Amino acid sequence: MKPLLVFLVSTAWAFTRGQYYYQELMNYLENRMLAIEDRMELWNEQTHRYHSELKEFKKLTAETMNALGKDHSLLLKDLEGAAARVDHVEREMDYLETQTAPRACANKADKVLEQGAWSVEESRTDEEEEEDWEEVHCVDILSSIRSVKILKRVGSPKGMWIRDPRSSKVYVFNGTRGHSIYQFSSVLDFSSSPGVNHSRQIQLPSVWMGPGSTVYNGYLYYIQQEAGTEVQVVKYDLLSGSVTDTAMFPVESHAPVYTLNPETTADLAADDEGLWLLYANSDSEPNINLAKMDPATLDIEEMWDTRCPRENAEAAFIVCGTVYVVYNTRLASRSRVQCVFDVNDMVLSEEAPLLYFPRRYGAHASLKYSPEEKQLYAWDDGYQILYRLTMKRKLLV
Ligand SMILES: *[C@@H]1O[C@H](CO)[C@@H](O)[C@H](O)[C@H]1NC(C)=O
Ligand SMILES: *[C@@H]1O[C@H](CO)[C@@H](O)[C@H](O)[C@H]1NC(C)=O
Repeated sequence: MKPLLVFLVSTAWAFTRGQYYYQELMNYLENRMLAIEDRMELWNEQTHRYHSELKEFKKLTAETMNALGKDHSLLLKDLEGAAARVDHVEREMDYLETQTAPRACANKADKVLEQGAWSVEESRTDEEEEEDWEEVHCVDILSSIRSVKILKRVGSPKGMWIRDPRSSKVYVFNGTRGHSIYQFSSVLDFSSSPGVNHSRQIQLPSVWMGPGSTVYNGYLYYIQQEAGTEVQVVKYDLLSGSVTDTAMFPVESHAPVYTLNPETTADLAADDEGLWLLYANSDSEPNINLAKMDPATLDIEEMWDTRCPRENAEAAFIVCGTVYVVYNTRLASRSRVQCVFDVNDMVLSEEAPLLYFPRRYGAHASLKYSPEEKQLYAWDDGYQILYRLTMKRKLLV
């Protein structure tokens, strides 16, 4: 009996111990399983997130590819258009080369050191020269004519129109001389009005001559030439409606500055650098002259011979102290900028390529540049046209 009892006790003990270990093992395994389950859940979540992120990315890629495809076809179309235009211009150039003389003006004109009454050169010191250099902040040079907009047709074949940047008002000079001008409150008001019915008519104190006026800082500057009298520049305050100053013309000549527009005795222009006067020295002088005027006092500060011929010129405009002269033929064909003169000697002739205006109706009677909007207010056979310009920076030499 005794050994059996010992056996039983020891077996029970072993059994309990075995059960204890078994329980331990089970607990251990259960914990592991729980841990694995937790991690699997986490993975699941992450996979799900990755999956939706991937879907989003695929969608984006598809969209981008789509847009790229569209751009590509647009680009192709542009290229085709450009190629056609190049072709067209080439044919045009070929035709011109057979028709016309070489470029009207290839060299930079030298400054004319005027002697006598108009000269301000001698009194200048180097310091002043340096100051002048600092003042030259305007660095635009015309690179192309970006677009054209034909607004309307009002009045006679010749005339001019211009916008006052200060008030946004538009002034219309119908014909080649007159006692009055029309004023519109804006370009939109002008283009949407059925004629000149809704405009204000301004009676000037004297007759304006030729489409050579300009508006600068709220003042109208116009050329006055009454029978038997000298040519004068008149400064007229548009706000108060009175003449604030007049000045005699720098030369006695009544010769037109552009031979294709004989009514333009002189042409006033305003740009970022101030007020300018384009004129002819005499009938026998072949070139266009330029004077810088003080807009406050009408004093002439400096004069140049632009070396740009008057012959076959129809108009000119000034951007950043650079004169662009536009030429045509007597039987109006395409207008082109064919001579350039820069008072600061910074525009090289190679930088200013032969530039064509789009095909139009007749010939430009006037071209007025607006520095604020970088566009030209043109009058072409009675049509009022806006040319938007593209600029590039002058090379500083
Ligand atoms: C413009 O001037 C012409 C003459 O030059 C005249 O016949 C015409 O009636 C004028 N038009 C307006 C709108 O003043
Ligand atoms: C503008 O004036 C013309 C005549 O000059 C006239 O026929 C036309 O009806 C007027 N238009 C308006 C809107 O008053």
